[in-house]
Amino acid sequence: MTADLLLVHFNQIFCPKDLGHPLYGEEMKKAEIIEDGYIAIKDGKILAVGSGQPDAKLMGPRTKVISYEGKIATPGLIDCHTHLVYGGSREHEFAKKLAGVPYLDILAQGGGILSTVRATRQASFDNLYDKSKKLLDYMLLHGVTTVEAKSGYGLDWETEKRQLEVIKKLDADHLVDLISTFMAAHAVPSEYKGKSQEYLDLIINEMLPKVKEENLAEFCDIFCEKGVFTAEESYELLSKAKELGFKLRIHADEIESIGGVDVAADLGAVSAEHLMMITDHGIERLKEAKVIGNLLPATTFSLMEDTYAPAKKMIEAGMAITLATDSNPGSCPTANLQFIMQLGCFMMKLSPVEVLNAVTINAAYSVQRQQEVGSFDPGKKADIAIFDAANCDFPFYFFATNLIDQVYKSGRLVVDQGRIKN
Ligand code: NIG
Ligand code: FE
Repeated sequence: MTADLLLVHFNQIFCPKDLGHPLYGEEMKKAEIIEDGYIAIKDGKILAVGSGQPDAKLMGPRTKVISYEGKIATPGLIDCHTHLVYGGSREHEFAKKLAGVPYLDILAQGGGILSTVRATRQASFDNLYDKSKKLLDYMLLHGVTTVEAKSGYGLDWETEKRQLEVIKKLDADHLVDLISTFMAAHAVPSEYKGKSQEYLDLIINEMLPKVKEENLAEFCDIFCEKGVFTAEESYELLSKAKELGFKLRIHADEIESIGGVDVAADLGAVSAEHLMMITDHGIERLKEAKVIGNLLPATTFSLMEDTYAPAKKMIEAGMAITLATDSNPGSCPTANLQFIMQLGCFMMKLSPVEVLNAVTINAAYSVQRQQEVGSFDPGKKADIAIFDAANCDFPFYFFATNLIDQVYKSGRLVVDQGRIKN
């Protein structure tokens, strides 16, 4: 079969292995790195990858050939944990943060997530859409082609639904593919202060069935944290969500370890998020239950904490991990997954291969899009991030600079020289 497009002579192509499951433990240390590589594309999908001169049968009279000496290619990056859609911003809390006021104290005082809830409730659909679109544009310009996005700044049906509808419309309109997560259990809203069970009942009995009925989300998530939702409450919500057919995630062990990882393991969640405070018992449970650890190092950085999730220990124990931005207006205001990847090396001491596996193939499993993206296996979407880098180590060594040269989405050039081509 001849290719529509042949991208040739990459210095290196990073090819994660899709073994039919997320890469666990030792598997995360391996990938194929093709020297002088080519990628053949047909109908927006990967046709073949290889080294040197492409096979003559890939070349037809209409095949377009482009040369990429001095560049590297990876599968389009996947940001598998974001809080993309919100009103306002929180720089007014920055001085408190610098003065050392803890994150959970700001929330307990009615700020933090609750301040964003007020702004999101006031924001129109168009306002939320435009703000989120801008964030998605930044992400795409940094090489990201697939993004998970949560609700959770409405905490009432009308606003949660508006957030989920924004995600749905952006998935249809934007070049980036979106995966939607329902997270009304992100905080207890002020009007339910001291009545978290009542709020939980509202989510379980009214919101969750409507989200399902209107097909507004694929995953359900909850913030299992001291002063927010307990492990028992998390179990109650997520078991109901599972019954209704949602896939599960849980924010667990972020600031204190209160049993969220056990809930993830007991209910077979796809992933558990944050895990900064995970215990050895927690690691064992997630490993046994094959729950992916979605680690968010820029949140530790942005909260100005010292403790990063023990990524290396998790890999040594045999877990699968990913890295993601956690992009949100409070604990992690960024849209740059490359910076998170660099923190993976600098602060978690992961190798570039482990990090690249984390943000490609493992992230694809984390959003359950492994059939479509995350590697260069033939038949997957031709989503490609091209870096101005001579080898796969360079984008880690040369940090805090956007090294994206071009991005292809489904075989189409969508980012060129720092600009989106619509
Ligand atoms: O994942 N931890 C809970 N939720 C977000 C923070 C949201 C916010 O501060 O607005 C997180 O870190
Ligand atoms: Fe989060």
